[in-house]
Amino acid sequence: MQVKVVEGETLNVEGPARVKVVEGEGDVFGFKASKGFEFVVKLYKQVSYHALTDSVLEVYGGKISSWKGEAYPKAWSEVAERISSEEKPLRIMVIGGVDTGKTTLVTVLANKLYSKGFKVAIIDADVGQSEIGPPTTIGLGLVSKPITSPYDTKLVDCFFLGSITPSRILQRALCGVSLMLNKALELKCNAIILDTTGWVDDPEGRELKILKMKVFKPTHIILISDAEEIDFYKRYAPNNVEVVSLPRGIVRARSREERRSIRQLAYRAWFINASLKSIHLGKVKVSYSFMFTGKPLTPKELDSLSKMLRCRVFYGEVTGRYLILVTERSIIVPDEVKTLYNRTGVRVITPDKLRHLLVALYGDEGFLGLGVVKDFDFKNMILKVYTPVNVESVREVHFGLVRLNPDTCVEEGFLDRWSF
Ligand SMILES: Nc1ncnc2c1ncn2[C@@H]1O[C@H](COP(=O)(O)OP(=O)(O)OP(=O)(O)O)[C@@H](O)[C@H]1O
Ligand SMILES: [Mg+2]
Repeated sequence: MQVKVVEGETLNVEGPARVKVVEGEGDVFGFKASKGFEFVVKLYKQVSYHALTDSVLEVYGGKISSWKGEAYPKAWSEVAERISSEEKPLRIMVIGGVDTGKTTLVTVLANKLYSKGFKVAIIDADVGQSEIGPPTTIGLGLVSKPITSPYDTKLVDCFFLGSITPSRILQRALCGVSLMLNKALELKCNAIILDTTGWVDDPEGRELKILKMKVFKPTHIILISDAEEIDFYKRYAPNNVEVVSLPRGIVRARSREERRSIRQLAYRAWFINASLKSIHLGKVKVSYSFMFTGKPLTPKELDSLSKMLRCRVFYGEVTGRYLILVTERSIIVPDEVKTLYNRTGVRVITPDKLRHLLVALYGDEGFLGLGVVKDFDFKNMILKVYTPVNVESVREVHFGLVRLNPDTCVEEGFLDRWSF
């Protein structure tokens, strides 16, 4: 369908759609799109074209709407313009509540900086609504062309948080930002933009942002909100950092349900071409589990424990001060057993605990992809994982906190950290 957009008007396209500029020139989130330029709008996403001259667009699929005026607040372009005319290396941290337009502003900034010749990287620390890398990860992407969302960047690496929220694992989120920042610096990026979660006002949310400021060392902090609701961040900002407040964008709020569906689609894309593979856990490093880090119990020990506990013990291990047991059903382990093994802590799980657990696989060069645990052969220490990754290259397995159905990519539940 051909659509005319008069100079000064904005056409908003809701995905799934494909758009081609047939005539005219427009602003698409901070870059100038002209005749022949094409872009894709994914399902649940939106992209706006603001006509700088009378334009004709070819729109395939999707839903359109239009309005007179800008696609995003003028103050956004003014700030983007001003910041991008600075000479020094830039680190921009964007803070705002849920659905305020953070990711869209990051896109506008990235495009502006890219067009001014900066080497631009985006760190996407919003693990629930990831644009760079899969959900549960903090992704680093390089801008190598004009983008309609951070998704269009070139993926460099991902840090696996293992959860769709940094809650209770703030330290992982901080480590992730720090590692991705270092990678961006190694790549000599001179403009690094940090997109964050909309978690701004409770103690943990505030703490995370304050510490992210310390780790990321921004040159600029941009606060997005309607009113002064997050102005308190000005008091947390380190000295010598320019703090700018901007109005929220023309955003469409997304429900929890929609956010879950967006994640489902994202997981799905990461599991294309996946199949069942085996990883020998004796041959790789593991993260975030007690299990597989110590000394397995012998078959004789398992036998005598099974008798003592009147429950079959499939697998056992001692690691540090912990005794780990995999039992036929949930049981409470009496203190004598701990004493017998000279340990003070115990973790008891049933084999289904690992079922459908999301894992991240890492190789020598970094993140390789995700996997879902289908089964575990305790006798041989073989993890059966549904993954598209070539397991020959796997050096590390990081256990996540999300249970994901490998067939539907629907999240089935969440685990506590360090529960096995
Ligand atoms: N100028 C705009 N034109 C069209 N759509 C927009 C515009 N700005 C934002 N949106 C849409 O509004 C929604 C929310 O915007 P955005 O993702 O930028 O907000 P956010 O603050 O990053 O949200 P979250 O809290 O989920 O991270 C998205 O679907 C986005 O496509
Ligand atoms: Mg966002």
